Amino acid sequence: MNNLLAALLITSIFFTVFVHSATDASNRDAAILLRPTENQHLQDPLGSLHDWLQTSPNAPCNWTGVSCSGGAVVALNLRSLGIAGDFPADFCLISTLRSLDLSDNSLGGNISSNSIALCSHLSSLNLSSNYFVGDLPGFPVEFLNLTVLDFSINNFSSEIPANFVNLRRLQFLSLGSNLLNESVPEFLSELTELTQLVLAVNPFRPSPLPRNIGRLAKLEFLIAPMANLEGQIPESIGNLSSMKIFDVSQNNLVGEIPKSIGGMRNAEQIELYHNHLSGEIPDAFSGLTSLLRFDASENNLTGKIPKVWRRCRWSRSI
Ligand SMILES: *[C@@H]1O[C@H](CO)[C@@H](O)[C@H](O)[C@H]1NC(C)=O
Ligand SMILES: *[C@@H]1O[C@H](CO)[C@@H](O)[C@H](O)[C@H]1NC(C)=O
Ligand SMILES: *[C@@H]1O[C@H](CO)[C@@H](O)[C@H](O)[C@H]1NC(C)=O
Ligand SMILES: *[C@@H]1O[C@H](CO)[C@@H](O)[C@H](O)[C@H]1NC(C)=O
Ligand SMILES: *[C@@H]1O[C@H](CO)[C@@H](O)[C@H](O)[C@H]1NC(C)=O
Ligand SMILES: *[C@@H]1O[C@H](CO)[C@@H](O)[C@H](O)[C@H]1NC(C)=O
Ligand SMILES: *[C@@H]1O[C@H](CO)[C@@H](O)[C@H](O)[C@H]1NC(C)=O
Ligand SMILES: *[C@@H]1O[C@H](CO)[C@@H](O)[C@H](O)[C@H]1NC(C)=O
Repeated sequence: MNNLLAALLITSIFFTVFVHSATDASNRDAAILLRPTENQHLQDPLGSLHDWLQTSPNAPCNWTGVSCSGGAVVALNLRSLGIAGDFPADFCLISTLRSLDLSDNSLGGNISSNSIALCSHLSSLNLSSNYFVGDLPGFPVEFLNLTVLDFSINNFSSEIPANFVNLRRLQFLSLGSNLLNESVPEFLSELTELTQLVLAVNPFRPSPLPRNIGRLAKLEFLIAPMANLEGQIPESIGNLSSMKIFDVSQNNLVGEIPKSIGGMRNAEQIELYHNHLSGEIPDAFSGLTSLLRFDASENNLTGKIPKVWRRCRWSRSI
């Protein structure tokens, strides 16, 4: 009897503590989420966030765009909701937040390194398709968990800051379609967890591909057309054995296609068109048995086409 009472008592204490702490966390998270709209830093002209009410049951876990785990907010997906204003860095005050997707909205202005620093516990940040301008924010060493960073389709200018090398876990990096106008930095070859790297459509200062890009052994997608690339395609691409889509078209690359390209043995698509490449197409291509599409048109290539390609399907001439 005593044991049963004790068990009941312990259970009810546990239950009370657990429920209360979950509620406290929810109340705190709800207050944090409401702050940017309350102080007018975030506008919601379409009323997409009309159900963000502190008083609603299960607030904030069943609010539009909010996902919780164990009563704590872990993900915010506010994609395509028509929200406007500054980067709402305050959302990152939720210490349990892991994923923040603010893409395809009308957010704008600068993002300071100080505000992004609040978000160091995130694993995924998507700010694609907004109106952000100015310098890319720098990332301090605390960003240990960020695996996805999508800054594409904004108006960021200037350089890729050197402290991007602090993003040791980064697997996906897109800076495509911005106004970045300094060089493509060599240090990108230090982000060795990358599987996807998008640099396309930026007015970079004419610069070569990182010489040691071959160190990105896990890279599957390099998307860099219209990035003002010049110089030769580095030999080290031969070490990109995971590469599936290699697109450096519409740049100013010169010299020969390195024979080492045969090392991209999983390549499905190679786009070299509209550059100033010269010489012959290396025989090494005949080893690329997964290749579905290869386009080297609008260059100065000479010589024969490897016989093995009669099996190949292509959409453009060489
Ligand atoms: C949130 O929960 C309340 C009460 O269960 C419900 O009335 C409301 O429709 C829910 N909101 C959403 C967006 O699911
Ligand atoms: C980021 O959002 C955009 C637009 O909503 C989407 O197309 C893109 O796939 C997202 N990026 C990632 C890495 O999921
Ligand atoms: C990274 O993620 C792990 C596991 O989810 C977590 O324990 C750790 O606190 C996170 N680190 C940072 C800096 O947020
Ligand atoms: C972004 O850049 C484009 C092209 O330079 C310009 O037309 C547009 O006004 C800019 N938008 C913002 C929000 O800065
Ligand atoms: C914000 O971005 C604009 C546009 O690029 C730039 O001129 C300005 O210096 C930036 N301001 C700050 C505080 O970084
Ligand atoms: C890069 O763009 C910014 C913003 O438009 C401009 O202030 C700066 O002078 C440009 N830098 C170079 C090297 O063209
Ligand atoms: C590929 O990597 C190996 C070992 O890391 C290195 O010795 C070699 O020079 C690299 N190949 C190229 C073409 O860079
Ligand atoms: C090809 O080479 C010729 C002669 O060197 C040069 O005039 C022409 O501009 C080159 N074309 C391309 C696409 O590089």
